[in-house]
Amino acid sequence: MFSCVHWLQPFLALLSSTLITWGYNCPSSCLCPDHHTVDCAGQGLTRLPDSIPLDVRRLLLSDNWIPWIPSDFLVLYSDLVYLDLRNNSLTRLEPGTLSTSSRLVYLDLGSNNLTEIPSGTFGESRSLIKLRLGNNPHLSMVGEDAFSGLTSLRELELERNALSGLDVGVLNQLPSLRVLRLEGNPWICNCNFAKLFLWLMENRQKLPNGLEGMECSLPVDGRRVSLSMLSEDSFRECRGMLTLTDYLIVIFSGICISVAAIIASFFLASTIHCFQRWSKANRTDEEEGDD
Ligand SMILES: *[C@@H]1O[C@H](CO)[C@@H](O)[C@H](O)[C@H]1NC(C)=O
Ligand SMILES: *[C@@H]1O[C@H](CO)[C@@H](O)[C@H](O)[C@H]1NC(C)=O
Repeated sequence: MFSCVHWLQPFLALLSSTLITWGYNCPSSCLCPDHHTVDCAGQGLTRLPDSIPLDVRRLLLSDNWIPWIPSDFLVLYSDLVYLDLRNNSLTRLEPGTLSTSSRLVYLDLGSNNLTEIPSGTFGESRSLIKLRLGNNPHLSMVGEDAFSGLTSLRELELERNALSGLDVGVLNQLPSLRVLRLEGNPWICNCNFAKLFLWLMENRQKLPNGLEGMECSLPVDGRRVSLSMLSEDSFRECRGMLTLTDYLIVIFSGICISVAAIIASFFLASTIHCFQRWSKANRTDEEEGDD
C-alpha cells in the first residue's frame, strides 16, 4: 500500500503542476513570459494589479503610477526574489512592509517620491543584495537604523535624493557593502558631515566614481565645493567639538549627582540623629530601670 503511494508520487506531482499551469492566470495587461515572472511595466497602472500569482518570483512594475503597496504585500508574495517598482508614485513605505520578506534579493524603489526611510524599514531582509533608492527628489531623511539587518546588502543607491547629511552609523551597519552611490545630493559641509567625509575617504573604493561629482555647500555662504577639493584638514575645527547633546548630558549628569549627594547626606544626617535619640532614650530607660 505504502509503496504504491510512493510509486504514485511523481505522477501526482506532475498532475498537480499541470493543473497549476492550466489554472495559471496572468493579470490582465501584464505579460508572463515564464512561470515565475510577471511583467506589468509601463502599463499606466494606478494600483497593484489584481490576481498576481502567489508564487511569483520576479515582479516588474516599473514606469507606472502606483502610489502605495500594502504592508502585507511581501507576506502574501513570500517567494518574491526580484521586485522592480522603479518610476512609480510611492510616497512612503508602510512600516513592516519589507521586514518579513526573507527571499528578496533585488529591490528597486528608485525614481519615486519617497520622503524618508524610517528606522527598521527593511527589518529582516537578510537576502537583499541590491537596494536602489536613488532619484527620489524629496528623500531627505534616512533613519539611524534604516538599514540594520541588511547583512548581505552589497549595493546601495541613494544618489540624486535630497540628503543634506547622513549618519555614518547607517553605513557601518552594512557589513557586505561594496558599492555605494551618494552623488547628486545637496550635502552641507558642517561638522556632522565631517564624519561622513572621513568615512568616504576611507571607503573611496566603494564609490563607483570616487569623490568626483560629489559636492557640499559651505554652511556660511552656501558656496558649493567639490569633495575632491576637501581634505581631513578642512574639518579640523570640528575636532574635539562637543555637540549640544553632549553639553546637555554633561549638565544633566552634574545636576543628578548633586541631587543624589544632597539626598544621601540628608538621609545620613537623619539616620545619625535618630540613632542618637534612640540610644539616649535607651540609656534613660536603663537608668530608670536601675533606680
Ligand atoms: C516613468 O514612467 C512614465 C509613465 O509610464 C513614463 O512616461 C516615463 O517615461 C518614465 N520615466 C522614465 C525616466 O523612464
Ligand atoms: C512629491 O512629494 C512632495 C513632498 O511630499 C510633493 O510636494 C510633490 O508634489 C510630490 N510630487 C509628486 C509628483 O507626487
